[in-house]
Amino acid sequence: MKKALSLLLAVLLFALSGCGNTNTPAQSEQDKDSSAQTNQNTDTVTGTESPDNTEKIVSEPEASSGILVIYFSRTGEQYTVGVIDKGNTAIVAEMIAEETGAELFEVLPEEDYYPYTYNELTDVAKKEQNEKARPAYQGTLPDLAAYSTIFIGAPVWWGDWPMIMYTVFENNDFSGKTLIPFSTHEGSGLSGFDKKLQSACPDAEVLKGLAVRGNDAQNSQDKVRESVNSWLAELGF
Ligand SMILES: Cc1cc2nc3c(=O)[nH]c(=O)nc-3n(C[C@H](O)[C@H](O)[C@H](O)COP(=O)(O)O)c2cc1C
Repeated sequence: MKKALSLLLAVLLFALSGCGNTNTPAQSEQDKDSSAQTNQNTDTVTGTESPDNTEKIVSEPEASSGILVIYFSRTGEQYTVGVIDKGNTAIVAEMIAEETGAELFEVLPEEDYYPYTYNELTDVAKKEQNEKARPAYQGTLPDLAAYSTIFIGAPVWWGDWPMIMYTVFENNDFSGKTLIPFSTHEGSGLSGFDKKLQSACPDAEVLKGLAVRGNDAQNSQDKVRESVNSWLAELGF
């Protein structure tokens, strides 16, 4: 009799233990997944319990690579490539970001008065250079405190950085940063981008730059990715 009673009690207890869980198996799996995710992406703050005594879950900021790519690039008609809808320098900037996990910031003119046709663009750029213009750009750079290494790229315009890039160099504090220049061009190579960047940002450390033919960036991307990768490897990325 005693045995029969304890058996009945055990069966009852087993049945009851399943009652509180009304989840379907699929829901349970999902809950498991989301709890695993919570553990990965959140920080459990101890000692800061909320009034109902449950622990407060605080989201952690997304991990940052600490690397930024700042670039300027034009679409429209460009030398040797015809009309393009993605700029040559933009293509290289994106490759660098893909390979290093960097974030991208595109320098866009506040007032985009740059002509769409190549010859007219060269005239406007020459005038800006003669006048040592400092064209304004849209928005602000992300908080530089978050980045120790910054790639900076642009097309060579009349043997120099486009003047808008000097606005970026002069309006921001790059001291203590590691700056790595890159250019796209059609014959001038890096065109002294590294030295000019170092003079504009004397308290930064400027590392070896990369020069890519604009036409290659547009039409020979496997080859360009290879040179980007070996340059990055040489720099220790
Ligand atoms: C205004 C202007 C000036 C240029 N000056 C030079 C130059 O001095 N040397 C050179 O090799 N290429 C020069 N180029 C060619 C560009 O550097 C090249 O096409 C570049 O890849 C364009 O890049 P983007 O599409 O990112 O703007 C010039 C192009 C323009 C529009």
